[in-house]
Amino acid sequence: MSDLLIHNIGSLATPLAKDRAQWADHVERISRAAILIHDGRVAAVGAESDVLARTPAQVERFDAGGALATPGLVDCHTHPIFLGNRAAEFHWRNAGKTYWELAAAGGGIHASARKVREATTERLIEESLPRFHRSLSCGVTTLEAKSGYGLDWDGEQKSLHVIREIEGRVPQRIHSTFLIHAVPVEYREQRGDFCDEVVERMIPSVAAEGLAEAVDVFCETGAFTVEESRRFLRAAQERGLSCMVHANQFGHSGGALLAAEVGARSAHHLEYLNDEEMLALAAARTVGVALPASVFFLGDLPYPPVRRMIALGMRVAVATDMNPGSAMTESLPFCMTAAAIYCKMTPDELLWATTFNAAEVVNAHHEVGSLEPGKCGDVALWRVPDLESLSYHFGELRAAAVIIGGKLAWRDPDASSRY
Ligand code: NIG
Ligand code: FE
Repeated sequence: MSDLLIHNIGSLATPLAKDRAQWADHVERISRAAILIHDGRVAAVGAESDVLARTPAQVERFDAGGALATPGLVDCHTHPIFLGNRAAEFHWRNAGKTYWELAAAGGGIHASARKVREATTERLIEESLPRFHRSLSCGVTTLEAKSGYGLDWDGEQKSLHVIREIEGRVPQRIHSTFLIHAVPVEYREQRGDFCDEVVERMIPSVAAEGLAEAVDVFCETGAFTVEESRRFLRAAQERGLSCMVHANQFGHSGGALLAAEVGARSAHHLEYLNDEEMLALAAARTVGVALPASVFFLGDLPYPPVRRMIALGMRVAVATDMNPGSAMTESLPFCMTAAAIYCKMTPDELLWATTFNAAEVVNAHHEVGSLEPGKCGDVALWRVPDLESLSYHFGELRAAAVIIGGKLAWRDPDASSRY
């Protein structure tokens, strides 16, 4: 593999692993910077003059054109494997129907599940793939991708195969998760049988076939109870899979306390979170994942209390929650803006939340999430003047270029665009 020198970086902003304990305090900022990538990994990063002094003569050069460089972003919560469009539902909700009324009428997750179950694998790949491309254009180099719209084993297995197939077709690093999302309609009168099936058949198969790294469960009134969720998560842990929880989105569901109890890697949503729950998550070192796009899109929920979470010692990540029901967006920069406004996060916290802390959610923080020697050469370049501007120009911002493992993975075709 050859070397790549990214030079003419106007400013570089990155978390550093050594600052992890005080993550809210420090982002390393270097003006007039360069990055040397050797064999896909960062060999040198710092002031341009220092890096140039260490650069071999035979090197491929990439002129950043004065851009801001950040680590490639990490989107640690997405549901990108689905078919079709739930725009009608979005507008019904805006006209007054609730998320749960639509679900009870066979809409919501069940509407997506019907389509996923009917689809061929190839069709599902074809519709899902562009979501990964759009995510890349938003600067995301690593993403977590969940199943969860198959519901029964055939549908879930198909979705997990689709993620694996897409992994081979896109440049990003992908971490797949088996999401236990809802009791399928045909099991409504036999939910115990469905839970047995999840524990006895689905989770063991996911582990045996290496179909996912983690198991996630939607622990909420209307989805799965704490007892059911605990059973799933314990079964996952017994088979070496890590755990995540969709927790406390619509109320104090017990999901957050359960995540802390089982030592889950992360607890996601957390719109309703009290001090007791925050302290439990902080003590368990469970990362809290704020999903502001879903609060924005559903329109009537509170934003997660991130300032308090940080004050009580929690580490916080921010992700898109990309899905057809509650967050139809691939834009992690948009989520930064929403988290800045509604969760009062600072630019430095937002960078940690979408790089290093998000990498921790998928257990990849030793590989990605910061620009430091030895880590993967994953870089997002932005035509903005500084880190503050990443969350300022909202709804539109695309990366100027994205480099993954020292290779150009995406470039904005409009080379003149400046934000
Ligand atoms: O993370 N909350 C549960 N699941 C998804 C939404 C699923 C859907 O409505 O399709 C979420 O918001
Ligand atoms: Fe989600």
